Amino acid sequence: GSLAAQAFRASILDFTSAPTVEGSGLRFYEDGILVLDQSGNVIALDHAEVLLPSLSQVKTAHFPGKVIMPGFIDSHIHFPQTDVIASYGEQLLDWLNNYTFPAEQRFADYDYASNVAEFFLDELMRCGTTTAMVYCTVHPQSVDAFFSASERRGSRMIAGKVLMDRHAPDALTDTAESGVQESADLIDRWHSNGRQLYCLTPRFAPTSTELQLTLSGELLASSPGVYMQTHLSENHGEIAWVKALFPERKHYLDVYDHYGLLGPTSVFAHGIHLSDDELQRLSDTGSSIAFCPTSNLFLGSGLFDLERTRSFNVGASIATDVGAGTSFSQLHTLNEAYKVLQLQGLSLHPFEAFYWLTLGNAKTLRLDDKIGNFETGKEADFIVMNPQSTPLMAYRYEQCSSLAEKLFLFMTLGDDRLIQATYLQGRQVYQAADV
Ligand code: GUN
Ligand code: ZN
Repeated sequence: GSLAAQAFRASILDFTSAPTVEGSGLRFYEDGILVLDQSGNVIALDHAEVLLPSLSQVKTAHFPGKVIMPGFIDSHIHFPQTDVIASYGEQLLDWLNNYTFPAEQRFADYDYASNVAEFFLDELMRCGTTTAMVYCTVHPQSVDAFFSASERRGSRMIAGKVLMDRHAPDALTDTAESGVQESADLIDRWHSNGRQLYCLTPRFAPTSTELQLTLSGELLASSPGVYMQTHLSENHGEIAWVKALFPERKHYLDVYDHYGLLGPTSVFAHGIHLSDDELQRLSDTGSSIAFCPTSNLFLGSGLFDLERTRSFNVGASIATDVGAGTSFSQLHTLNEAYKVLQLQGLSLHPFEAFYWLTLGNAKTLRLDDKIGNFETGKEADFIVMNPQSTPLMAYRYEQCSSLAEKLFLFMTLGDDRLIQATYLQGRQVYQAADV
C-alpha cells in the first residue's frame, strides 16, 4: 500500500451505502483517525486506538470534540448568480429577465468573471461544499475563469458554458454553431483536465433553437464522460411557454429526449411538475433530477415530490441553485428540504440527509468512484464541523444523546458557522477565523 503522509483525528462520520434509520450504511468513529497518502487520497479510516500505534511518525492533526465528514456536494448552482442572490419579488421568468440576464452580461469580461469565481469558490469552501455542478454564462471566458480558479485551489468541479441562441438579450446569445463549437473547444481544454469535468449546458428549452439542441445532442453523443445539465418543469409559465414553442413534442422532457440529451450523466434541475410519462423516461434513461428546495420556495415554483420521483426509480440529488436559491449552505438547504417534505406529510431523517449531501449526491453524479466517502483510494475532500460554533448549537448539542439527534441539529440550526475547516485532498483551503 501507499505510505501514510498525514492523519486527522476527531469524531468521523461517513456512509458506505444508503443508510437505514437504525444506522446500517453509516460508519461513525467517536474517536477516529483518517489517514491520507502523499497525494491526498484515503489509505485508512478506523478507531484511533487501532491506528495510533502505526502512526507514531505521521503528522496527525487532532480536533477533539469536532466531527469530520466528507465534503458536501452541490448538484446545481450558478456561479454568475452570486451577483443576484436575494433579489426581490419575482417568479422564474421575470426573475430571469429583470435580474439574471442583466447580471450575466458582466461575465463577458474575463477579469470580472475571475473575481466572482474566486469569491464563489471561497463561499463554497466556507460552507463545506467541495464539489459542485456549475452553470457559467454564455461566454466561454467565464468557463475558463471558473475552471482556472478551481484548478488553482484543487477542487473537483463540473461546469459548462451556457448554450442560449434565442429569447435572451443579444449580449447573452451565441448561435447554434458558435455555441456548440465553443463547447467542443472547452471540452478539449478542460474535461478530465486534473479534477475538472465538463458539462454541456443548454440553459433550458425556451432559449435554444431546434438547431442548437440538435447540435448539442450530437456533441454529447460524441463526448464520452461529458455531463449535461439543464432546467426542467420548474414553473407553470415556463411549462406553457415550452408547449407553445415545441407543439410537436409530447411534453417538456420530450424536447430534451428528442434531441438526445437524456442519460446517466444528465442532470435536470427542479422537475417539480412532471407527468408519469416524463418520470418513466427519466428512469428508463438513468437521468436524474436536482432538487433545489430554497430556490423552489423563493421563486414560488412549487413543492418537489421526492416520494413520487423515487417511486419511479429516478435519482434525485440535492442542490442550492444559487442565485434563485437563497443560501450557499447545503445545511441550510437540508433545513428547507425537511420543510418541503413536511408540507407533504413526510420527513427527512438526518442519516438520509447527510448521506444525500455526500455519497448520495456522488452516486447520482456518477462520481462515487472518486469522492463521497472515506473508502480507501478515494480523494480526501472533507470538512471539520464544530458543534460549539454558536451558543444555541452548543447548548442544544449538550442535551443530545444520539448521533441522529446531533445530526438533526446540524441540519436544522447549522450554516456556514458550523464549518470550522475545509480540506481538498488533505490540503486545508478554509479555516474559520476565530479558531
Ligand atoms: N431556468 C432557466 N434558467 C434558469 C436559472 O438561471 N435559474 C432557475 N432557477 N431556473 C432557470
Ligand atoms: Zn438553476
